[in-house]
Amino acid sequence: MHKHSIIIDTDPGQDDALAILLALASADIELLGITAVAGNVPLPLTEVNARKICELAGRPETKVFAGASRPMLRSLITAEHVHGKTGLDGPILPEPKMPLQKQFAPDFIIETLMSHPAGTVTLCCLGPLTNIGLALVKEPRIASRIKRIIAMGGGWSEGGNITPAAEFNIYVDPQAARLVFQCGAPITLIPLDCTHKAIATRQRIEKFRAMKNKTGPAVAEMLDFFERFDIEKYGSEGGPLHDPCVVAWLLHPEMFSGKDVNVEIECESELTMGQTVVDWWRVTNRKPNAHVVRGLDADGFYKLLTQRLLTLP
Ligand code: BDR
Ligand code: CA
Repeated sequence: MHKHSIIIDTDPGQDDALAILLALASADIELLGITAVAGNVPLPLTEVNARKICELAGRPETKVFAGASRPMLRSLITAEHVHGKTGLDGPILPEPKMPLQKQFAPDFIIETLMSHPAGTVTLCCLGPLTNIGLALVKEPRIASRIKRIIAMGGGWSEGGNITPAAEFNIYVDPQAARLVFQCGAPITLIPLDCTHKAIATRQRIEKFRAMKNKTGPAVAEMLDFFERFDIEKYGSEGGPLHDPCVVAWLLHPEMFSGKDVNVEIECESELTMGQTVVDWWRVTNRKPNAHVVRGLDADGFYKLLTQRLLTLP
């Protein structure tokens, strides 16, 4: 079986948790490590949450690393208003027993990319891009060795979710995002324009709850918590599962549609800080640097999630 070798860079987060669970439930994914970053909540919580999720999936041997505790230049902004105080509010998950790796996450990213054959390791990015930015600054040679960066972030026709112009992951560390978009590696960007189609409706949540394993009901409790905010904010039928779209795109890109276009990151104006300026209509002659995803087969996406999560303990 062909296996995708990946590193997940993340700030869990309930939707990050589902992305990690989807990866751990996939026999066609080799998860080389999880690198935690400050984002939805501060780093001491995101790294613990990452380990809680691995233990929930019965995979305590997974390597989890802690990375940047703050963005490259700006102060940290967190999102407890969406994810709760712990970042993973909803189910009560035990404190993890598995160890946190000693290595600094950006160093693990560098070491992995330099030691694996070029073009074989994919970076799945679910949070602010600080760890990747730091790795690129410390060892620029990694850029040409990355198979692909698949990142959840940004918004074009949907606008922003943390400011009118910016989506949370990019807004938290726009300088790191700019480094990533200028690094030359193949990039898939999964913005709000796509993830707002991945709505966790009541019916879909109940399918997780009905699973006869430990993971399904825990996921349902995470989503019960997560969706209350989005229903109120967008008037939608549930919360959008942003981050699992990254792993789903890796596994089944045919469930999505998009376009190769140029993306630049606004880092100067306070008003539009962190905006992803997507040249969707190709009105500039700037070179395409990302595949920007817009369309999603939402039923196919939820089918994949439920089928795979059923295989977990
Ligand atoms: C992104 O921000 C976080 O709150 C979510 O985990 C997701 O990665 C959505 O804007
Ligand atoms: Ca996230």
